[in-house]
Amino acid sequence: MPRHFLTLLDFSPDELHHLIERARFLKAHPNKTPSLNHKVLAMIFEKSSTRTRVSFETAMVQMGGHAIFLSPRDTQLGRGEPIRDTARVLSRMANGILVRAHLHQTLEEFAAYSKVPVINALTDTTHPCQLLADLLTFVERRHRIPIQVSWIGDGNNMCHTYIHAAHQFGFKLAIATPPGYSPCGNLLKQFANSVTLFEHPEEAVMGADWVATDVWTSMGQERDEAKRRNDFKGFEVTEAIMQRAKPDAVFMHCLPAHRGEEVSDAVIEGPQSVVWEEAENRLHTQKALLEFLLL
Ligand code: CP
Ligand code: NVA
Repeated sequence: MPRHFLTLLDFSPDELHHLIERARFLKAHPNKTPSLNHKVLAMIFEKSSTRTRVSFETAMVQMGGHAIFLSPRDTQLGRGEPIRDTARVLSRMANGILVRAHLHQTLEEFAAYSKVPVINALTDTTHPCQLLADLLTFVERRHRIPIQVSWIGDGNNMCHTYIHAAHQFGFKLAIATPPGYSPCGNLLKQFANSVTLFEHPEEAVMGADWVATDVWTSMGQERDEAKRRNDFKGFEVTEAIMQRAKPDAVFMHCLPAHRGEEVSDAVIEGPQSVVWEEAENRLHTQKALLEFLLL
């Protein structure tokens, strides 16, 4: 059975710390980039992507391998070829497979039939690659793991991944969501020791080392956009909210961002925002991940 990276729980805390440290090293020493020696990464994207696609493709090129972008529109997946057939065929050709899927179940089925490592490039429930970059961004700045992280907004795929990260890296996660937008109840039960829920962003950010948010309407939820915009009123991360966190707290967002909705222009462009480093760090952490899984 190959190792897969479907959620942060697939790796031990030691392995996750190793990836962060290794990414730091590879970022600082680009001339020591390991060679993937012509290995091929097949990348299936059922949804749009800028950062994930470009960072994996760039990583593969810089490591001497090759990435093949596959959209359902141009492959037989879009014409109904079963996932399990596609997984068995691709894994006899490629050395690794990256999947961005609407349903997490699709990713799991893909992994169950794949002979090579499968990496989660985002599903409806999780986005583990993003958290590797987010952790690297904090560790680079502070040389330590955070004590408290605050999540403001939707209890979505990113929020779930922050819950996994809180458990695996050992930090406290304070979450504020509007009524009806809480993260998955099972996750909250399973990781109750790491997570506290709040009704108001002002309470959740008190004492935070790091404040994070994400869009109010994720990919696939566009039909509810107007309702969501209304339901999330009061959940914008503004300067007033950031002032309640620790004075040196950082602001993170996986991007793409909607200024004036989940974050104000002043915060995302302000001195506490580390979103551009965070985006760049996708490249470095994924190099470490590709080395770990494919070499
Ligand atoms: N943060 C992130 O995954 O961005 P993309 O959707 O552009 O890949
Ligand atoms: N929650 C967002 C994250 C995008 C990277 C979405 O799923 O659309």
